[in-house]
Amino acid sequence: MDGDLETRLKLLAHQIDVAKTAEEVRLLVNSALGSKGWVTDALTAIKTVHPSERKAYGQAVNEVKAKVKEIGDAKAAALGKAATSADEYLDITLPGADILMGRLHPVTLVYRRICEIFIGMGFTVVEGPEIEDEYHNFEALNIPANHPARDDMDTFYLGAGVLLRTHTSPVQIRTMEAIEDKDDVLIRIISPGNAYRRDKPDRTHTSMFSQVEGLMIGKDVTFAHLNGILSQFARSLFGPSVKTRLRPDFFPFVEPGAEVAISCPLCGGQGCPTCKKSGWIEILGAGMVHPNVLRAVNIDPERFQGFAFGMGIERVAMLYYQIDDMRLFFENDVEFLKRFG
Ligand code: DAH
Repeated sequence: MDGDLETRLKLLAHQIDVAKTAEEVRLLVNSALGSKGWVTDALTAIKTVHPSERKAYGQAVNEVKAKVKEIGDAKAAALGKAATSADEYLDITLPGADILMGRLHPVTLVYRRICEIFIGMGFTVVEGPEIEDEYHNFEALNIPANHPARDDMDTFYLGAGVLLRTHTSPVQIRTMEAIEDKDDVLIRIISPGNAYRRDKPDRTHTSMFSQVEGLMIGKDVTFAHLNGILSQFARSLFGPSVKTRLRPDFFPFVEPGAEVAISCPLCGGQGCPTCKKSGWIEILGAGMVHPNVLRAVNIDPERFQGFAFGMGIERVAMLYYQIDDMRLFFENDVEFLKRFG
């Protein structure tokens, strides 16, 4: 190969090697092979070469030409690939991956709504421990050992006398115990939280669930207050036309006790599958706090009285959102959860 061409080829190869863009490569290749390029010039110059050397000269120049093409193409291909992957990484015009916004769980939504309503009526929210002792979960609530009511609450025991609370009612006891001046008792609290029972899960039972406990104690808190407050609660949650029905029921920690039902918010009390054609749906238990319970916390039942209630939040949430299987709340199925909030 002609010495001059070889030097130029080396230089060009180096320039192409360090080139950063396909356009740079194209210009470099053009500086050799274009109409005014040095390879083209060299080919044109064949006329000036002695006929006996023309063949070898032509071959040499064509080799350089082929080499330039090869180096240029290789580099362009390499840059092209890099460019493509870089583009994929940087293409800000491509729609991004969907970001799923977090939202509140339906039980949390209903839980908050319930709290809001009671806070609006002057109640304070307090919390109690989920790991309880038998005394607060049972005895102080007038459920002594061997009382049949314990059978209704199949209990998770953690050790002797220590258990996962089976209801939020022990918070009543803890709240009343904490009152320092037992001559001046005025309590108006609700206590939401988890409770646990060894129930076999089905459409209306899960072994962990949540409840809201309510407690109001004072000098002259009566059953009429209980009725009024729960009726107002039901109207606030389900709408102004919802009616409340109280019927006698038994709970060891209240006397008299009541089961509280509301007129079915879905059919307006006409009867539908949700209310099992009865027009009513039971949503909570309530009653006047039993004198034994007041005595257990050193509050004089002759001077103070009041009411308590307890409701299952999932049950209310099922009604509120028309969900017919409680287990859905705990499965964390994203498609289900997306429907709320
Ligand atoms: N603790 C009861 C339960 O889990 C519910 C209940 C009923 C709470 C009546 C009360 C009440 O405060 O007065 O089934």
